[in-house]
Amino acid sequence: MSSSQEKQVLVSGIQATGRLHIGNYFGAMKQFVDLQDMYDAHIFVANYHSLTTVQDGALLRKQTRDVVLDYLAIGLDPQKVTLYTQTSIPELFELTWIFNTLVTVPWLERAHAFKDKESKGIEPSVGLFDYPILQAADIVLPGAHVVPVGEDQRQHIEMTREIVRKCNAVYGTSFIEPQALINDHVAVVPGIDGQKMSKSYNNTIPLFGTDQEITKAVMGIVTDSALPDEPKDPETNTIFKLYSLIASVDEIASMRQGFLKGGMGYGDAKKLLAQAIIQMVTPMRERRAYYEERPDLVDAILQEGGARVRERAGQVMADLRKKAGLV
Ligand code: TYM
Repeated sequence: MSSSQEKQVLVSGIQATGRLHIGNYFGAMKQFVDLQDMYDAHIFVANYHSLTTVQDGALLRKQTRDVVLDYLAIGLDPQKVTLYTQTSIPELFELTWIFNTLVTVPWLERAHAFKDKESKGIEPSVGLFDYPILQAADIVLPGAHVVPVGEDQRQHIEMTREIVRKCNAVYGTSFIEPQALINDHVAVVPGIDGQKMSKSYNNTIPLFGTDQEITKAVMGIVTDSALPDEPKDPETNTIFKLYSLIASVDEIASMRQGFLKGGMGYGDAKKLLAQAIIQMVTPMRERRAYYEERPDLVDAILQEGGARVRERAGQVMADLRKKAGLV
């Protein structure tokens, strides 16, 4: 195994806008865990991004802590991974400002997330408009080579690449153009209504819900009215799609056969899915409880992670300040 200096840098983050769901888990978080040995991983809570939707201090503080606990619970090892919140890195805003001056308003208006909000009649804040630029700073400051995310973040990573090219051309920096790491089969995890699972669509299955909450959400998965004995197409079926992410090869094959031949009712399939999710999260819940009971340990992990990133951020900004003529 190479030392952390030789490993490529991985950076990713999640907003603190509410309970994480299994779309977040399979789309992004599971990759963080799977890749933590291979990369010099930097995983943070995008709590400043969250201000674009959460404007209640106590709530944001709680949700930020919850994301950190979720990270530790899924198996991110603080000995290997640099864990932090954006709050630790004020240099992010200096870099955001410099990046702001390198891009144009029409270019930034192309961002899907911003266009979606606008199309829903929401008058976007300047912060929401600038969201992709802060995201670019998140990625560039720790020196990311790769950014594991779900499909919905592809455009943001592409925008980061363009900003990096622009900054390198204008100021002669040598920032790395990061690659998005998107796992095809989990790029868009469906929610209980078959659309992309998303808190804003109210179609989520919570990752750290109670058994009852998980079961209730799974039982709410929308299906057609085929009877248990009728053959069904597993490929167009949300229950099967989600089960395929979790169950063993044999279990998946058995559900597929049951659907294809007939005999697998939706109710039974939902029960199997709920059981599989609960089984998957049980050890994670135990780890979550361990860290929840040790707030000082969690604070120390965040402080150490934040200090590490800040040290590098200081060097990066000292160089860029010189190149931009600010000092
Ligand atoms: P956020 O907080 O909305 O989502 C966190 C991660 O979960 C993925 N995801 C999904 N993947 C597959 N299927 C789904 N249904 C699904 N729903 C969510 C998202 O793609 C994401 O990877 N802008 C980011 C946060 C961010 C960030 C960054 C990410 C801020 N700075 C720098 C990477 C690098 C966001 O809103 O993700």
